[in-house]
Amino acid sequence: MILNRFKKKKEIEVEKDKLPQHIAFIMDGNGRWARRRGLPRTAGHHEGGKTLLEMIKVCNELGVKAITVYAFSTENWSRPKDEVNYLMDLPSQYINKYLPKIKEANIKMNFIGFIDQLPDKMKYDIEVAIEQTKHNTGMVFTIAINYGSQDELIHATKQIAQEVKDEKMSIEDITKDYFSSKLMTKGLPDVDLLIRTSGEIRISNFLLWQISYSELYFTNKYWPDFNEKELKKAIIDYQSRNRRFGGLKGEIK
Ligand code: FPP
Repeated sequence: MILNRFKKKKEIEVEKDKLPQHIAFIMDGNGRWARRRGLPRTAGHHEGGKTLLEMIKVCNELGVKAITVYAFSTENWSRPKDEVNYLMDLPSQYINKYLPKIKEANIKMNFIGFIDQLPDKMKYDIEVAIEQTKHNTGMVFTIAINYGSQDELIHATKQIAQEVKDEKMSIEDITKDYFSSKLMTKGLPDVDLLIRTSGEIRISNFLLWQISYSELYFTNKYWPDFNEKELKKAIIDYQSRNRRFGGLKGEIK
């Protein structure tokens, strides 16, 4: 009896046949992580980059089909210039350093956001990353840079409105699928699980259309402290939920 009390509780494992197909991450808390250590905010972003690498590796190994991360929002331009410059440079640094490994791991790189407005250097690195991984058939890794969901929705609406005006499209044919095909996430599976770190419980203009039926998971951990164990906790939590998609019964597909 007494011994039983000290027996290690059996750990619950991720169920491989009920994996979320597409996980989106709001990588929040880098600044606070750094401040707690008396470091500059950029040190938090640097550390956050390491967490991202771990997530790519673990999700790919688990068999997740797609992950999308919020690296820079359309609102982030209002941050101090130094921080903006750092955040603008970070994806390029990672692409240059890790692209061969990403290629080898059969990961396909993808970007969403208003890429045209980015510095030329970053546009070039993005093009290279897309080009070099375009034949890969494994997990799709999407980085949202200069992304804002409301602007994405307006952009899609304008495109469709123009098609209607030009009589290339009739109003009756505007379906959910058609609208989705005009979004930057075209071709990606719906987001099953959205994870936000750092204790903030909001969406912050990220993938508003795409998360219509997502399960939401919030954790107090700062992004640089998020890791494989925390990810698995989130997935196990997701797997315990009863997804109804507006119906009465059902479970995770
Ligand atoms: C939010 O934390 C984080 C960001 C705006 C940037 C996220 C970027 C990375 C994790 C770097 C890696 C990215 C790539 C693509 C290599 P915050 O600064 O708002 O934190 P705070 O709320 O604590 O201030």
